[in-house]
Amino acid sequence: MPTSRINIRVITATVIAIASFGTADAAEPPAYPADYRNWTHVKSMVIHPGHPLAEPFQGIHHIYANAAARGGLANGSYADGAVFAFDLLEYDTADNASSEGERALLGVMVKDSGRYSETGGWGFEAWQGDSRTERMVNDGGAGCFSCHQDVTERDYVFTQWRN
Ligand code: HEC
Repeated sequence: MPTSRINIRVITATVIAIASFGTADAAEPPAYPADYRNWTHVKSMVIHPGHPLAEPFQGIHHIYANAAARGGLANGSYADGAVFAFDLLEYDTADNASSEGERALLGVMVKDSGRYSETGGWGFEAWQGDSRTERMVNDGGAGCFSCHQDVTERDYVFTQWRN
C-alpha cells in the first residue's frame, strides 16, 4: 500500500513564509491552550496533496472550540475569551485507511478585541509539532489573518457547526 508522509520541514518553512508578510504587531501573542483536548470537537478534515491548502495544511486536522467559541458558533459572532484550536496531524494511508500520525502543528485563534485589534480582534499563533514553546508565527498573525479575512461575515471563522 502507498504510504503518504508529510515533510514537517516543508510545512514549517511554508507556515513561516505565509506568516512573514504584513506589518509586525507588538501585541502579546496567545498562550498555548493546554486543555484543548477537553473542548468541543467541532469538525475534522483530511487535506491531501493537490488541495489549495495542502501547503502547509496537508494532513488530518481536528478543530476544537472552548465554551465561549462554542457559543459564538451559533450566530457567527464571538465574545472575548473565545478560542479555537486547529490540531494538524500527519497521516499515513496504509491498509486503505487514513490514520492519525504525529502532530505537525497546533494552531490557535484567540478572541481579544482590544489586544488583537489589528487582526480582526483575533490573536493567531501556531506551535511546531508537540512543542509548547516553539512558536511559528512571527508577524503578529498578519499572514494568517490575510486568509481568514475571506470570512469577515462570520467574524473571520471558517468553521461552522453542523447538527
Ligand atoms: C490559505 C488560507 C489560510 C491561512 C494562511 C490560514 N488559515 Fe486558518 N483556516 C483556513 C481554513 C480554510 C480553515 C477552515 C478549515 C476547515 O474547515 O476544517 C481554517 C481554520 C482555522 C482555525 C479554526 C477556526 C476557523 O476559522 O475555522 C484556526 C484556529 C486557524 N485556522 C488558525 C490559523 C493560524 C494560526 C494561521 C497562521 C499560522 C492560519 N490559520 C492561516 C485557512 C487559512
